[in-house]
Amino acid sequence: MEILNTIYPWTKVIHLLAVISWMAGLLYLPRLYVYHVETDSKHLDKGKTIVLWEHLLIKRIMNPAMITSWTFGILLLLTPGIVDWAVFWIWIKIASVILMTGFHGFLLKQQKLLKNNVIQYSGKQYRLLNEVPTFLMVLIIIMVVVRPF
Ligand code: HEM
Repeated sequence: MEILNTIYPWTKVIHLLAVISWMAGLLYLPRLYVYHVETDSKHLDKGKTIVLWEHLLIKRIMNPAMITSWTFGILLLLTPGIVDWAVFWIWIKIASVILMTGFHGFLLKQQKLLKNNVIQYSGKQYRLLNEVPTFLMVLIIIMVVVRPF
């Protein structure tokens, strides 16, 4: 575990880079879904392009970024002396990242449905759903920086 203390700043660098990339995808994908459901189905080529963008964003950016965020976040949790389990903010952060991961899973399910032309939510509802990762992100940043509890 000594090694974790030595590499700690670098673990955090990779954690933050991964988290930024993951958030970029979580904030942009629902926006692509808005365009997707608001695109006239007669414009098939346009629809196909959006499906490809969604697919590439998930496979190339979001899935790897989520796995890297978790891997390096867990390494930070395991680094001796970094997290005090008696303070409350870390539990709120953990609950928030679990919810964020649930939202990621929800977006993957929606992509499968949209690809097969099953539309469950309107553009307006996807705009509203976009607020979920925004809210969780604000909560997480306040928890890790301000540590109010
Ligand atoms: C995916 C699961 C995640 C785990 C297990 C995790 C865990 C951790 C841990 C243990 C730390 C170290 C705290 C310290 O150095 O004092 C940390 C730092 C940090 N995390 Fe996460 N995290 C995760 C996801 C996220 C997400 C989604 C965000 C942002 C939306 C985020 C933002 C940050 C920030 C900004 C720091 C630096 C805090 C500082 O140095 O003051 N993390 N994370």
